[in-house]
Amino acid sequence: MSVELIGHEPQELYEPEPPAISVRHLWHRYGSFDVLRDVNFEVGHGEIFGFIGPNGAGKTTTIRIMATLLEPMAGRVEIDGIDVAIDPDDVRKIIGYMPDHAGVYERITIREYLEFFADSFQVASIEVVDAVIELTDLGNLQNRLVADLSKGMKQRLQLARILLHDPKVLILDEPASDLDPRARIEIRDLLLELRELGKTVLLSSHILTELSDVCTSIGIMERGQIVVSGPLDEIADRLEAQRAANAIGHQMPGAPGMPGGAAVPVPAAVQPADAAPTTQRIPETGAAAQPAPSPAADGPQYTDGGAAIPQAASKRLKLRVLGDARAVVPLLAGGAGIVSVEPAAAGHLTVQYHGNDQYVADVVRHLVNSGVLVVSVEPERNELERIFLEYTRGDLA
Ligand SMILES: Nc1ncnc2c1ncn2[C@@H]1O[C@H](COP(=O)(O)OP(=O)(O)O)[C@@H](O)[C@H]1O
Ligand SMILES: [Mg+2]
Repeated sequence: MSVELIGHEPQELYEPEPPAISVRHLWHRYGSFDVLRDVNFEVGHGEIFGFIGPNGAGKTTTIRIMATLLEPMAGRVEIDGIDVAIDPDDVRKIIGYMPDHAGVYERITIREYLEFFADSFQVASIEVVDAVIELTDLGNLQNRLVADLSKGMKQRLQLARILLHDPKVLILDEPASDLDPRARIEIRDLLLELRELGKTVLLSSHILTELSDVCTSIGIMERGQIVVSGPLDEIADRLEAQRAANAIGHQMPGAPGMPGGAAVPVPAAVQPADAAPTTQRIPETGAAAQPAPSPAADGPQYTDGGAAIPQAASKRLKLRVLGDARAVVPLLAGGAGIVSVEPAAAGHLTVQYHGNDQYVADVVRHLVNSGVLVVSVEPERNELERIFLEYTRGDLA
């Protein structure tokens, strides 16, 4: 009896559950062009994973491999532990795949459309169609012709179709592209509902903010490589840690013997040219104990996908002032820590900078002292946008 227990139970207890999606060292090539170059990421169960990147990055290729429509040339892709190359049929049973430009049969009603697919998927009970119609909120339209549906409704019908066989993992290629804001919100709500039902969702997008607020984790792809991936909060924490490390890296070389309290770089150069430099500036080079204490001295860091992570993380700030925003530009541009200053209409400005809250406070004080009427100062709120800016090389849509 005890032998039985030892033989079976521990194994069941300790065997780790495979992730919903696992992509390992995936390569793909069209002709002589490497579209996917060692792509690695994982999606945990119950996540809504945003697969983000510009057109041509390789998202659809990766997705088609996950959906068993394309064989990986190298590497391994598993859905819920099932290898797409070894057991494609089993994978198809547990995924719901919505291609990017799927057509729909137009000359039948919504109900007929779903019944047709329920039949071809050999769904056990026709009641499933009712359940899916209810879930996707297509009840009022079920007797309408598919041809009469709006784009957003057609997209919802596609989602309804891929839910008929109750898949665990949904793989949606650009589900929100070309949708109007209302339809996008409706899709978003539906995704959240599906997550409540225990589904895992991977959705791709070339527009960063399209469905970003539903994602619990992301992977950013650029030129066939994953630049960064993981749960959003973990990535944000990593960025913070990296930022802290960078700040230390900046202080140490140029400031031997500098008291710890003076360590915060303050925006000396945002002072007007004629103002007395009341703030301290951390020397970029100087009495250095190390040979080349520039930010690059640490050497570049690389992500799993092999892409370089920018050394210093920059942030963005939205300012609104009374009067012409362009008048503010000379007060900030070229200042220490300022990356860019972009004026816009109605007194709005976007300032990209390196620094902490103290830095922001100093910038605001400097503007106020210079006679600028500051109405609002808003740190960038969109975490995803920030991550995106900091991990990509600026050539993204
Ligand atoms: N069947 C194909 N034959 C040749 N090149 C292709 C094919 N499909 C896609 N590509 C190229 O591969 C790259 C990645 O495409 P894709 O995976 O569709 O990216 P995304 O979905 O991120 O826009 C693009 O440069 C595209 O032109
Ligand atoms: Mg695509």
